[in-house]
Formats: sequence, C-alpha cells, structure tokens
Amino acid sequence: MDYVKLIALGIVAFFAALAASWGHDLAYQVHAFLIMVIAFAMFIWVLRNTDEAKPTADQTSYSDGVVRYGVIATAFWGIAGFLVGTLIAFQLAFPVLNFEWAQPYANFGRLRPLHTSAVIFAFGGNALIATSFYVVQRTSAVRLWGWNTAWFVFWGYQLFIVLAATGYLLGATQSKEYAEPEWYVDIWLTIVWLAYLAVFLGTIIRRREKHIYVANWFYLAFIITVAMLHLVNNISIPVSIWGSKSVQLFSGVQDAMTQWWYGHNAVGFFLTAGFLGMMYYFVPKQAERPVYSYKLSIIHFWSLIFLYIWAGPHHLHYTALPDWASTLGMVFSIVLWMPSWGGMINGLMTLQGAWDKLRTDPIMRMFVLSLGFYGMSTFEGPMMSIRAVNSLSHYTDWTIGHVHSGALGWNGMITFACLYFLTPKLWGRKQMYSMSAINWHFWLATLGIVLYAASMWVTGIMEGLMWREVDDQGFLVNSFADTVSAKFPMYVVRGLGGVMFLSGALIMCWNMWMTIRGADPATTSVPNRNPNAVPAE
Ligand code: HEM
Ligand code: HEM
Repeated sequence: MDYVKLIALGIVAFFAALAASWGHDLAYQVHAFLIMVIAFAMFIWVLRNTDEAKPTADQTSYSDGVVRYGVIATAFWGIAGFLVGTLIAFQLAFPVLNFEWAQPYANFGRLRPLHTSAVIFAFGGNALIATSFYVVQRTSAVRLWGWNTAWFVFWGYQLFIVLAATGYLLGATQSKEYAEPEWYVDIWLTIVWLAYLAVFLGTIIRRREKHIYVANWFYLAFIITVAMLHLVNNISIPVSIWGSKSVQLFSGVQDAMTQWWYGHNAVGFFLTAGFLGMMYYFVPKQAERPVYSYKLSIIHFWSLIFLYIWAGPHHLHYTALPDWASTLGMVFSIVLWMPSWGGMINGLMTLQGAWDKLRTDPIMRMFVLSLGFYGMSTFEGPMMSIRAVNSLSHYTDWTIGHVHSGALGWNGMITFACLYFLTPKLWGRKQMYSMSAINWHFWLATLGIVLYAASMWVTGIMEGLMWREVDDQGFLVNSFADTVSAKFPMYVVRGLGGVMFLSGALIMCWNMWMTIRGADPATTSVPNRNPNAVPAE
C-alpha cells in the first residue's frame, strides 16, 4: 500500500512541478507550487514510515481527534472571516482603506469573496463537518467508518479553503457568487466531499441503533444536496490545462438560473439543513430534554427539503427569466415559511419545562437566540421573495441585512453555542474555563448583530425609496451618488457592529484556549449496544 501511495504522490509532485513552471497565470502557478510542496512533503513522510508497523484503530472509543481539530479550525476560520468582514465593511464606509500599496490584491472586489467563503465554507463548513462527525458517532453508537478517511476529509477541506482564498486574492475567480473557485479547485472539492459522504454514510450503515436519529437526516440531506449543487453549477471547460481560466457550459439566463438554483440551495442546505442537524442534536442535549415533537421533525424535514429546491428563481425577479419561473420561485418561498417556523418551534419548544435555563445557562441562551434569528430571517426571506417587495429590496442593503441576520444570528450563534458545548467535552473538562466570558460574548455578539441588521434595514429601505423618488414631472430626484453619501453613517454603524461581533468571537477563542490548555484529550468509549433495545441518544 505504501508503494502505491509513494507512486501516486511522486506523480502528483512531478505534474505540479510542471504546472508551476508552465502555468499561464499567477494564481495557477502559486497553487501548483503549493501542491508540489505538499505532495513532496507527504512523499518524504510516507517514505520514512514505509514498512513500519501501522497502528490499528481502537474500535472501542469514538474517533474524536478529527472533531477536536475541526473545533479549533472552526474558531480559527471564524476569526479570519469576521476580520475580513469588518475590514470590507469599513472599506465601504472609507474607500481609502483600499490601500494603494496593497493593489490589486486587497481591494474590496477581491476581499468580498474571501469574506463570504471564509465565513460560509471555512467557518460554517468546518463547524458542520466537526459536529456531524461528533453527532453521527454518538447517535449510531459506532466509531467513524473508514479509518483515516475522516482525516483526509479534514485536511483535504483545509486545502480547498487555502486554494480558494489565495485564488481570490491572486485574481482567479469564475465569477459565480459562493462558487467562485476555478475548475481544478472544484475537482478537488468534489473528491473531498465524496469522501465525506462515504464516511458519514458508512457510519450510518454500520450503526448499532435501530433508528437513524433526525439530526443525521438533516446532515445527510446537506451532504448529498451540496454534492449535487456543486457538480451542476460548476460544469465548465478549462481554457487550458495549464491555466486557471475556464468557460461555463451554460450561458445567458440558463446560467443565471443554474447559479441561483445553486445559490439559494447553498442557503437552504449548507446554511439551513446542516445547521438544523446541529440544532436537533445539541439543543435537546443542552436542555437535557428530548426533542419536542418527533412527528413535527419528520414533517419539518420532508417539507423543507422538498420546498427549498424550487425557490431559487426569487433571486431573479424582473430579469430575462420567464415570469412563470419567477412566480414559481415566489410561491415556493412563501410556502417555505411554514416548515421553517415548524423547525424553529420544534427547537424552542424542546425547552418546555426547562425555560429557567435561559436565566442560568448562557449557552442555552445562545441556542435560543439563534433560533429566534432563524425564525426572523425565514419570515423576512419569504416576504422579500414577493415580487413587489423585491422590486424595492433587490440591489439594496436590505438584502445584506437579511443575509447577516440569518448568518450572524442563526449560523454564528448556533455555532458558538456548539463550540462551547463541545470544547469541555472533547478535552475532558467539566465546563468552559469562564462562564461569565460566555455571557460577555453573548451580549457583544447580540448587540453587534442588532447594529449590523438594523443599520442595513434602514439604509436599504432608504436607498430603495431614494432610487424611486420622482418629481412632479416624472424626473428622478436623486442621483446614485446621493444615495451613496446618504448611507455613510449607517455604514459606520455596521462596521462598529462588526467590531463587536468580532470582539465577542475573540473572547470565545481566549476562553477555549484557557479550557484546552493543560488538558488531555478525552476518550469516550463506544457503548456496547443491542441494536433493537436502546433508542437513539
Ligand atoms: C464581523 C462580522 C461580519 C461583518 C462585519 C460582515 C460584513 C460584510 C460586508 C461588508 C459584506 C459586503 C456587503 C456588500 O457588498 O454591500 C458582507 C457580505 C456577505 N457576508 Fe458578511 N460580515 C460578517 C459576518 C458574516 C458571517 C458570519 C456570514 C455567514 C455565515 C456572512 C455572510 C456574508 C454573505 C453571504 C455576504 C454576501 C451577501 C450578498 O451578496 O447579498 N458574513 N459581509
Ligand atoms: C424561508 C427562508 C428564506 C427565504 C424564502 C429567503 C429569501 C430570500 C430572498 C427573496 C432574497 C433576496 C434575493 C434578491 O433580491 O436578490 C434572499 C437573499 C439571501 N438570503 Fe435569504 N431567505 C430565506 C432564509 C435565509 C436564511 C436563513 C439565510 C442565512 C442563513 C439566508 C441567506 C441569504 C443570502 C446569503 C442572500 C443573498 C444572496 C445574494 O444575493 O448574494 N436566507 N433570501
């Protein structure tokens, strides 16, 4: 086996060296060089360990090492993403922050996708991978399937993030929002994602529990759908095998529709279904109560996944898209409100009989706040999908406010709560080092979100109305520049909201560091279960 690995790594290093010297553009050359160095380092490592006795996996305990790494990676990428978010927020308020000396690498245009990918895929993605590995083992009562494959998923995913992020800074992009990486990075992500699917599915198939716990349905829907979206939206033909540029297979309105079918379902399955998987495991655990209604979770699951997939055209109102398609998107979006709130109610009502925890437990407070924001953004989204409302909100900062009430409030808060749940458990501590620091984080983040969302709602509706304003003779009253200067104070408030959100996350990192410092990684034994006797955890 080692010899096969050595041959494969040697071939990769050789071709990467050729690509680094023959590459047509800087991003491609830098990436090829990076891959060459990694392949070469792995070659040496495998060579040094060839024919050594390999440790066998201990089947009696859960494989939590990879979850521990995932928890740290989530916090790390979170800080990176929030930092860039805060910087671009201030760049919009003070354009001089697009420093001349840093051009062309650090202008708003290149940093914006760096921010969106860092927060969604690096912060959110690592949180999803780590929590799904934690949850699927415990609810299936078996160790992760596939020995070292989970480690391949973890490191392969980090490599994807580094390739994507450096690519943006160096100017490589296929200009599809949330799917900016170029063809070779997409191929690499496909390999990593299929390995992720194999580990997750393999673990479920080997489970020693009769039922598949509801959190795993959501995780599985997220993994499978993201694979499908990624494959279809990234169909492209490279201009040359030695360059990053590629040409999309779809064109015109078909390309736009494919892109927003992808874009909306990235929200629906990455930022929603996966995070609902977290909600269905960690909220009952933290509340020490069973899920409020199992029946509701079944209805929630099937209606959510059926409806989301059709709602994409609401991103393309008043475009070349046929009216029937845009109406279809609108109708499905409005109906989507119901399962979304069904999920929120199921989460919130899980606290029935344990509401006092809201007073005493800052982690529970974070979970509840995240569900509150989930409810708010899934009310706002259907409303914005109504064509008449969208004619005001589209192109304005209202959309940005909607995005961040969902992203900071729902995704951010639930992830922080999960990190606070997991850190002491994974490092064998009773609880986090400082509970009052969690309180500080809670309030800083909450106020940060309020400043962010409120300022964007105000500025969004204001600019939408200013664009529409006409005088008695039907002439537009405001120039575009008027709207930009009117937004300035709100942009500063949004930036301050970002600083508060970032400060809260830095406090969390300090708290995690103090909890982990000096602790030995905890090992949790796999319970010896009769598959027919014990219900899922
Ligand atoms: C410190 C916290 C954050 C700050 C200050 C921040 C700031 C920003 C800014 C200034 C933009 C560009 C807006 C524009 O082009 O007008 C943006 C876009 C975006 N951010 Fe954030 N962000 C933060 C956290 C997050 C998080 C945690 C997520 C997701 C989990 C997120 C997801 C997005 C998305 C999806 C967009 C693109 C929105 C669109 O195109 O409509 N952000 N952010
Ligand atoms: C029932 C649920 C939801 C519906 C029907 C919905 C609907 C919408 C609509 C109509 C837009 C504006 C499209 C436009 O004018 O271009 C939008 C934008 C967006 N929403 Fe939602 N939303 C929902 C929930 C959420 C949640 C929970 C999140 C985040 C966690 C989210 C993230 C986004 C993002 C990132 C965009 C900006 C896309 C872009 O233009 O770059 N949405 N959504």
